[in-house]
Amino acid sequence: MQTLFVTGGAGFIGCNFVRYTLDKHPDVRVVVYDKLTYAGRLENLQDIQAKHGKRLVFVQGDICDGAAVDAAIGENQVDTIVNFAAETHVDRSIMDPDAFIRTDVYGTYVLLEAARKAGNLRYHQISTDEVYGHIHGDHRSLETDCMAPRSPYAASKASGDHMVAAYYITYGLPVTISRGANNIGPFQYPEKVVPLFVTNALADMPLPVYGDGQQMRDYQHVMDHCAGIDEVLQHGVIGETYNVGTGKEMTNLRMVEIMLDELGKPHSLIQHVEDRQGHDRRYCMNVDKLMALGWEPDYTHEQAIRATVRWYVDNRWWWEPIRSGEFKDYYRRLYGERKVISKG
Ligand code: NAD
Ligand code: TYD
Repeated sequence: MQTLFVTGGAGFIGCNFVRYTLDKHPDVRVVVYDKLTYAGRLENLQDIQAKHGKRLVFVQGDICDGAAVDAAIGENQVDTIVNFAAETHVDRSIMDPDAFIRTDVYGTYVLLEAARKAGNLRYHQISTDEVYGHIHGDHRSLETDCMAPRSPYAASKASGDHMVAAYYITYGLPVTISRGANNIGPFQYPEKVVPLFVTNALADMPLPVYGDGQQMRDYQHVMDHCAGIDEVLQHGVIGETYNVGTGKEMTNLRMVEIMLDELGKPHSLIQHVEDRQGHDRRYCMNVDKLMALGWEPDYTHEQAIRATVRWYVDNRWWWEPIRSGEFKDYYRRLYGERKVISKG
């Protein structure tokens, strides 16, 4: 039986990946290794534990703690590391980059080193389209494009990618990297734009759209991303990087309109506010390389947005306690003093 060590497996994409993997591969065991920061939650794994029992093991720990990582890998006979663990929110990285450097850069190094010491374990790094930076004209980022990150979050993820490549070249560590577009779907912490706006709209609160809302993103369903990661793990070429997204793009404003229409809420909830510092105007990737392996997305942007809205409508038990905790202070700090430009 193969054992995957899934770091950050109690977070949004990690928990969906564990769900996908245990359902699809009956011969795989998963060890989730997670620090349980504000974004990591045991509730995210509850249904999986109930369904798969001993095929899921949870270990609480920090990827920056080398001794704890070595022990968890050794005790669980791990053969593959999939690293989702990261600080992930651009706005938080702008307010305080420190934890991003620690986890996304140093933590990645610790995991690579652990993989090397354990006898060159298979290693997969979860990265992001944000490492390519703002994309001009109608270009779609290729895996071979230079990285040009512009936020502290993106810079820390790009550093992680460089370190992964260095371990492949220097030590022959069998690595792959996948770079995902914006994910949406169940269990996403409501600081990210889609769950933030759905949960605000359900409370008839304004939706703070940064600037003119004409920024372009590729909102892919998290399960399409998970299937893409699985494809790379099964059939990806060692040493290679794969983009994962729909390859299409949509403005933030269009995304908000679809969401409000699905909720039956008025567009007057839209409030244009002061823009994010250094806001990347456009991300868009070419995903032909992954599609050549046989993968393709199931959801269009619109289907992904509507399905996500419905999940949040049906799962208040999950997000209501979050919005009444640490989140309140965060919301006040980020949005409390933010200048409103226009409404509706
Ligand atoms: P998330 O913030 O929901 O979850 C991150 C998880 O990592 C949490 O469970 C947290 O507790 C854990 N974690 C954080 N620091 C840790 C540490 N030092 N040690 C151990 N665990 C730690 O993030 P997400 O949206 O699920 O993103 C997962 C990965 O996917 C990240 O690497 C992110 O950069 C990447 N990614 C995200 C998106 C997106 O749209 N959300 C898109 C592309 C790539
Ligand atoms: P986000 O979910 O933070 O992802 P990323 O910055 O990693 O793409 O934001 C997605 C888009 O939504 C991005 O263009 C910023 C914008 N946005 C808003 O307009 N208002 C908000 O309150 C947030 C959180 C994001």
